[in-house]
Amino acid sequence: MTATSKGFADRLRTPEVTHARISGVGGYRPRRVVPNAELVERINSSDEWIRERSGIIERRWAGEGESVVDMSELAARQALQMAGVEAAELDVVIVATVSWPYQTPAAAPMVAERLGTKGAAFDISAACAGYCHGIALASDMVRGGDASNVLVVGVERLSDFTDKDDRGTAFIFADGAGAAVVSRSATPGIGPTVWGSDGAQWDVIAQKDSWIEVHEKDLGWPTIGMAGQTVFRWAVWGMAPVAQKALDAAGITADQLDAFIPHQANVRIIDAMAKQLHMPADIPIARDIAYTGNTSSASIPLAMERMVRHGEVPSGGLALQIGFGAGLSYAAQVVVIP
Ligand SMILES: CC(C)(COP(=O)(O)OP(=O)(O)OC[C@H]1O[C@@H](n2cnc3c(N)ncnc32)[C@H](O)[C@@H]1OP(=O)(O)O)[C@@H](O)C(=O)NCCC(=O)NCCS
Repeated sequence: MTATSKGFADRLRTPEVTHARISGVGGYRPRRVVPNAELVERINSSDEWIRERSGIIERRWAGEGESVVDMSELAARQALQMAGVEAAELDVVIVATVSWPYQTPAAAPMVAERLGTKGAAFDISAACAGYCHGIALASDMVRGGDASNVLVVGVERLSDFTDKDDRGTAFIFADGAGAAVVSRSATPGIGPTVWGSDGAQWDVIAQKDSWIEVHEKDLGWPTIGMAGQTVFRWAVWGMAPVAQKALDAAGITADQLDAFIPHQANVRIIDAMAKQLHMPADIPIARDIAYTGNTSSASIPLAMERMVRHGEVPSGGLALQIGFGAGLSYAAQVVVIP
């Protein structure tokens, strides 16, 4: 070892192990409630069909001019308050989204500016798995010593990218923001992440046309298409084993959980996963989708925020969270509930 590299190694040696935990969560649901009745005519459907096939009763759509950044700020402020962390103490802001309408720059620097931090800020694009990817990155940054507090926001304004005449998606997608602060901790608070992708199925949930095609063919505005049954089967059969691996990696079994918080894609997917995982009947399962719809990257933090606010889950308890969707991408981990 050279003198230089020895100095480098000494400098980087950390004296104690740092852990990471979620210190606060927050959520923002737009004011505008959209019941199934408002959508059914254009897709020749019914309130009963939508409830039975998806579990969705109503969803929220953002108001005019209510942007991804506006929603992120409101959710983030709640998370910071719960964490007892000042915005200026945030070293990193990560925004997970697929519906920020600028190719560049990212939404995160503007969210950071609104909150009052000049910390590092960038977006990640992993669709419905985006929030769990963000938690994984935040956890590793804190444990690695690059940050003491990281804000992770999952936010979508999917109503902009939804074809209101598409029977397969018009009733599913919705708007909202969820946020978590990940902080240094004396004890472990975020388990190992089990994650991956299947690019062979890149096209089963996707923006129907690229921005170039939209421009060249004068298509107006791109919307998201989905091969519903393919996604359904992948989620039910493919994701329960991933959730089980996250439990195994955390060294626990399903009966030791205090909450199961899967991505809110469809209530039938949630129920099928719980069954495959042999989830004990008394463990609370997030079903925020009924009143919030599928908000993609926002769905897990929004569901956790609701469960915490309603006192359905104990602070300090263990929650299994799993995000999955376009990519196809997925990520799961066990976390300590703030
Ligand atoms: C979208 C979804 C609810 C559709 O349900 P499905 O049972 O697969 O529906 P299918 O497309 O097979 O159609 C079944 C029947 O319902 C009808 N149907 C489809 N969409 C309908 C709608 N919106 N309203 C009423 N009927 C509808 C079809 O015409 C078909 O009728 P038929 O049997 O007479 O031919 C379901 O595929 C799903 O939830 N997929 C996963 C979606 C998801 O979670 N995406 C997010 C992942 S991140």
